[in-house]
Amino acid sequence: MSRSAHPAGPRYADVLPEGHYSAPPADLNALDPKVWARTVGRDEHGVLTVGGIDVKQLAEEFGTPAYILDEADFRARARAWRTAFGSDADVFYAGKAFLSRAVVRWLHEEGLNLDVCSGGELATALSAGMPADRIAFHGNNKSPAEIERAVRAGVGRIVLDSFQEIVRVAHIAQSLGKRQRVQIRITVGVEAHTHEFIATAHEDQKFGIPLAGGQAAEAVRRALQLDGLEVIGIHSHIGSQIFDMSGFEVAAHRVVGLLREIRDEHGIELPEIDLGGGLGIAYTSDDDPREPHEIAKALTEIVTRECEAARLSTPRISVEPGRAIVGPTAFTLYEVGTVKPLEGLRTYVSVDGGMSDNIRTALYDAEYSVALASRSSDAEPMLCRVVGKHCESGDIVVRDAFLPGDLAPGDLIAVPATGAYCRSMASNYNHVPRPPVVVVDGGGARVIVRRETEEDLLRLDVG
Ligand code: LLP
Repeated sequence: MSRSAHPAGPRYADVLPEGHYSAPPADLNALDPKVWARTVGRDEHGVLTVGGIDVKQLAEEFGTPAYILDEADFRARARAWRTAFGSDADVFYAGKAFLSRAVVRWLHEEGLNLDVCSGGELATALSAGMPADRIAFHGNNKSPAEIERAVRAGVGRIVLDSFQEIVRVAHIAQSLGKRQRVQIRITVGVEAHTHEFIATAHEDQKFGIPLAGGQAAEAVRRALQLDGLEVIGIHSHIGSQIFDMSGFEVAAHRVVGLLREIRDEHGIELPEIDLGGGLGIAYTSDDDPREPHEIAKALTEIVTRECEAARLSTPRISVEPGRAIVGPTAFTLYEVGTVKPLEGLRTYVSVDGGMSDNIRTALYDAEYSVALASRSSDAEPMLCRVVGKHCESGDIVVRDAFLPGDLAPGDLIAVPATGAYCRSMASNYNHVPRPPVVVVDGGGARVIVRRETEEDLLRLDVG
């Protein structure tokens, strides 16, 4: 198969590794609703629009690169999770995916709870008015100061991650004259089908207390003896960007097994279990994520079945989706700087951001889609690699993508599904200021996190 339209004319079947795109999509201007925020489309001139606003206008007003977030989509997804789980379960949005005060307010209004994992996330949540009892505090190494702040604020639960933390939280709560509601995070020994760096339930890693060898049971035994703690349940998070429900099934089976052991040993039934987050989203058309109602149904059925078999009353379930709520709601808008065809290989398209606004491709080999946004084009597809402006060759935003062969400097391109773990993992590498988050809703656009400036960077440099 040859691709004559491309100036460098590569045989793309030869250069693409297995599993990546092997042929250009039929229509390069088409926008697959799986990967784009719900209000994204093209206007009559072919310009990408979101919430009725065209991206050329957004670029002019807010500059590039910029994360453009569809508020209606965020709220709809948050609501879908809330509705799917109903009143017998709790949905905690995982703030690590992306957090800002506006997001906290939306979550509050839509009836979701919030999972935070650092003092900074906690401060953001509290400053935006999330009631403390709807906050869960996570982390494998919470500092004593963070713990004290969380206990004083009255967070709804602290998820205990180690034997030392059990004692530490109990001590701090007791010294404040409080009894802190806690869950104990266990590792159930599941190998989740995802990238090694984001799998969290196998035993050889830093999170949680292993179920193996009776360690989790021992953790519960110790926690139950401490006056400063009210043990409300068990927590398990198996990993992230997971499509296959079988890992959750095994996790639920093992968590319920522990609840049964606890009942048999201590005569108490812990009232809650948390199955974490980790549900995958579509980054490309090849991904097929499940809808929240399917996930809710599957998880509820698994837990109910396991509890019936163990003759336990069904505990209240909670889940912690982050990516599945915010991921699809945003895209990153970049301006093309240079277009460099490499004979026999591919065309390198450099944009005005890169690994500082999206580290996921470099870190996890993540796959993304991309589209020409400032216009449509009927030019033949060319095989591209979208790269950033940083000083390393691993600075890749989209490894393999087809863009129109007439792509030129000054064009705007958009990378969808960048709502999760992009702004929240952004850096200042090469002293590149971090992009803003611009929210579009009901025909208007506004900044919720402003662009960093060179003054911001210099303000920290006090030497
Ligand atoms: N709950 C706990 C305890 C977690 O550790 C996480 C994610 C979540 C919930 C939310 O997971 P989600 O539903 O968003 O998959 N930076 C990586 C992802 C790291 C996830 C860390 N924990 C990435 O960009 O793929």
